[in-house]
Order: sequence, then C-alpha cells, then structure tokens
Amino acid sequence: TWTTGNVIEEQVASIRAQVGTKRAICGLSGGVDSAVAAALVQKAIGSQLTCVYVDHGLMRKGETEQVEKDFVAATGVQLKVVDAQERFLTALAGVSDPEEKRKIIGREFIRVFEQAQAEIVAEGEADGEEVAFLVQGTLYPDVVESGGGTGTANIKSHHNVGGLPEDLEFQLVEPLRQLFKDEVRMVGQQLGLPEEIVQRQPFPGPGLGIRIVGEVTRDRLDLLREADAIAREELTAAGLDREIWQCPVVLLADVRSVGVQGDGRTYGHPIVLRPVSSEDAMTADWTRMPYDVLARISTRITNEVADVNRVVLDVTSKPPGTIEWE
Ligand code: XMP
Repeated sequence: TWTTGNVIEEQVASIRAQVGTKRAICGLSGGVDSAVAAALVQKAIGSQLTCVYVDHGLMRKGETEQVEKDFVAATGVQLKVVDAQERFLTALAGVSDPEEKRKIIGREFIRVFEQAQAEIVAEGEADGEEVAFLVQGTLYPDVVESGGGTGTANIKSHHNVGGLPEDLEFQLVEPLRQLFKDEVRMVGQQLGLPEEIVQRQPFPGPGLGIRIVGEVTRDRLDLLREADAIAREELTAAGLDREIWQCPVVLLADVRSVGVQGDGRTYGHPIVLRPVSSEDAMTADWTRMPYDVLARISTRITNEVADVNRVVLDVTSKPPGTIEWE
C-alpha cells in the first residue's frame, strides 16, 4: 500500500544503493520539488550531499531565508549559497525585452551554478571522494512528458568560466520520479520541511525579473517584493491559497499615473494583481475573488509601498493571456 512512510523508506534505500560512498550535488531553487528531493537524499546519505543555492536576487520576500535558514534547520543539509545578486543586476542592466531578460537570467544561472559545482567537485577530489551524482526533482508527469528517458547529465562548461573541466559528467538521482505533485508535498511534510516551502505555489525560475515590465533594478525589485508580500499575506489570511493556483504581482515600471494621497498629487506606478485558477497552468481563468480581499490588498499596497499609487486587477483568461506578463 502507498504511504508516504513507505515511499520515504524505499527511496532512502535505493538512493543509498545508487550513490554508495560517493558524493552528490543538488541545486535548490526554493521550490517544492528540489527541496523534497534534496531532503530525501540528505536523509539517505547525509554529509555526502552538498546543496547549492544561487541567490539571484529575484526571489520574493523571505524565500531566500526560507532556504538558507529554515530548510537547513529542518534537514541539516550542507548548503553552499552563492550570492550572485550583483552579477544578475549587472547582466540585466538596461534590458527591458522579456525574452532577452529570460535568456540572460537563464545563462547567468547556469554559469554561476556550474562554477559552484566545479568547486564542490574540486573539494571532493581534494578529499579523495568523487562527486559523481546530481540530484534532480523530476516528477512523474515530467518523466511521461519527456518520453521516460534518464541517465546522465552532460553539463558543458562555458568558455568564460575559469578553471572548469571541459565536461562534468554526473549520474542523475531522481527520487521523485514516481510521484505526483500532491504526493511530493506529502512526502515533504512527513520529512518535516517548512510549510512555506512544501505548500508553495508555482513561481517562475526567472523570478521577479519577469514580473517587472521594464528594466530590472534593485529599487524596483525591492518595491515589487513589498507589494507581493502584502498580496500573499492577505490571500493567505483570507484562506484563498488553495482556490488560487497562483497570483503573480506585477510592477508596470515604465507606466506612471497621476494620483492624490495625503495633501498632494502623486505620480506613481501601477501594480497588477493576476490571481488565476487552473488545473495545470496550460489554461487558466482569472479568479473571481472576494471584493473585500481585493480592497484590503489595494489599500495596503498603496499605503505601504512608496511610489505605487494604483492597484489594478487582471481579468484575462489564458488563453489569450499567459499567466505571467512576460
Ligand atoms: P505562462 O505565463 O506561460 O506560465 O502562462 C505558465 C506557468 O509556468 C510558470 N512559468 C515558469 N516556470 N520557469 C519556470 O520554472 C519559467 O521560465 C517560467 N515561466 C512561466 C508560470 O508561473 C505558470 O505557473
């Protein structure tokens, strides 16, 4: 019979058999899948696992701390955090085009991750222990979609990253390959992971970088982080986390509108709320959420976030709109 306890036991045994006395690396994104995969592998092989978290500065409020502090406290995992915020901001400077932003974020992410990976491989070599495995949070639906293939990840180094071996070849450890998302959450819960990670709604890899329409700057990220935190707090308080698939909060950084606040005229930016209901993100409908919750979010954002004087609601389905704005 299927129980989370059985799944954990089986996976722990099979990870131990696969990895033996070698070492493994796992990238953490802040999302559910990589967190649960890492926690399972940690339970199986302990200090033979090193996790890597690239802090690109595009996460929402509190998310990096959830990984750095809460996840580490819950699992005891060895974590290498790479603070790459400056690097990402520099690479994104002056760029407004959505596809360009996505490309830059993806490219920088791979470079930073590969560099960290190479350092861990070198540390392993210095200790006489080979780092031979890469942990991935592949779920059953991903396996089916990609035709079921698995094996090795051939991770090519980039010419501009100094000191990397030409090719690092890892075998994959994929302890979630037989599980669906809700099962992954149950396993994560049983493993004692923080609720904020286990129940997290989908969040795009490029993070807040694709929720700022316009150039990504530190000030704009800070502003959006505040607005997003308020929206999330109010949606959770209203008990809407299950009904809403996800609610992107978007900053229209290149738009300004006139407003009035206190004794004066303002000329600030609009924030867009994009609450959607969906089964699988392929199609979505805008969530008919209670007006009083919308009102609270709007009042709080315009009162508490400097430079935002308007909150608007996106009432577009997917299609024709995508869930994200970029
Ligand atoms: P769209 O905007 O295409 O989004 O309707 C569908 C779902 O995918 C998420 N999304 C991403 N997730 N990397 C990700 O890991 C990405 O680059 C990315 N872009 C969009 C989006 O949040 C929604 O859940």
